[in-house]
Amino acid sequence: MKGYHDIVGDGGSRILEQVAEQRTRIIDGLAGVRHLVAVGSGKGGVGKSTLTLHLAGALRARGLRIAILDADFNGPTQARMAGVQGALLVPGSHKVALPRTRNGIAVFSMGSLIPESEALDFESAAHGESHTWRATREFALLGEILGSFEWGELDLLMFDLPPGAERTVQYADFLGPRTAFLLVTIPSEVARGVVARSVAALSKGPNRVLGYVENMSGYYCRDCNAIKPLFASPEQVRPSGLEIPCLGTVPFDPELARHCDRGIPLAELPDTPVGRGLDHVAQSLLDRLESTAPAAAHSSRELRPGREHPR
Ligand SMILES: Nc1ncnc2c1ncn2[C@@H]1O[C@H](COP(=O)(O)OP(=O)(O)OP(=O)(O)O)[C@@H](O)[C@H]1O
Ligand SMILES: [Mg+2]
Repeated sequence: MKGYHDIVGDGGSRILEQVAEQRTRIIDGLAGVRHLVAVGSGKGGVGKSTLTLHLAGALRARGLRIAILDADFNGPTQARMAGVQGALLVPGSHKVALPRTRNGIAVFSMGSLIPESEALDFESAAHGESHTWRATREFALLGEILGSFEWGELDLLMFDLPPGAERTVQYADFLGPRTAFLLVTIPSEVARGVVARSVAALSKGPNRVLGYVENMSGYYCRDCNAIKPLFASPEQVRPSGLEIPCLGTVPFDPELARHCDRGIPLAELPDTPVGRGLDHVAQSLLDRLESTAPAAAHSSRELRPGREHPR
């Protein structure tokens, strides 16, 4: 079988020119974005999407201009959580305008375009081989979205990543060194083990890993106004072992889950453990973004294709 490097030329497809054109559109489209932050984990179901949306809300409440790109194309949840399911995509001044939440956060989510009863299907040239196309097609789609929507002037563009440690690294490679990572774990050894793999994989590349958030760190009992252990008794709780800074903890609050299900994100953080936890993480995130910023700020041109740093 011929390898990639054995193929001479592009068979007239202009593939290299097409890729270069797309990169230029992406770079131009993100030129007004100050920080790119990817919220990942490796582990599924730990609250990446919930924290992305509510940290965006906490940052928005500080007056920052925020957008979210739900990069989980096959399992998009931001549309429902942010209340932009079925939002119409309308032309903006140059490109496609983004739907916004009631508190002004711009959100792109496949869930706005595809009903929950349908799956996103990546067709394959070879029948039964669609899985081999998925990563390629996903990143081509991500590139299209970055290049086609009006991101405008933003303080933060947050990427809500899908689960999978290896996919976390693929996103780092695609998004380039400008993108900083915030990792989410829960107080379970299983989750921490997966997050530790993501940390190890990311540490081989140039992306900044800002730290981690421990979500579901206890259960907030509203009746007794106290935090109860969720995964382990207090004497079993061990340090995370993750060699990156902890930016804060957020307890499990059934009220937060209900808001996510109904598509009514908490616009104002309540004076409860979950509200205070989110507010603390939002401030730590901003502090880390500033304190770890490269001396000569990365230019937006550094969103570059391909893998320059093999992991
Ligand atoms: N701190 C919390 N309090 C209450 N519910 C929470 C909390 N964090 C997450 N949840 C709930 O847990 C479920 C999973 O959260 P979420 O979808 O954000 O996880 P995820 O890591 O994005 O999952 P996936 O890997 O599938 O993308 C959701 O129903 C969400 O509402
Ligand atoms: Mg998610």
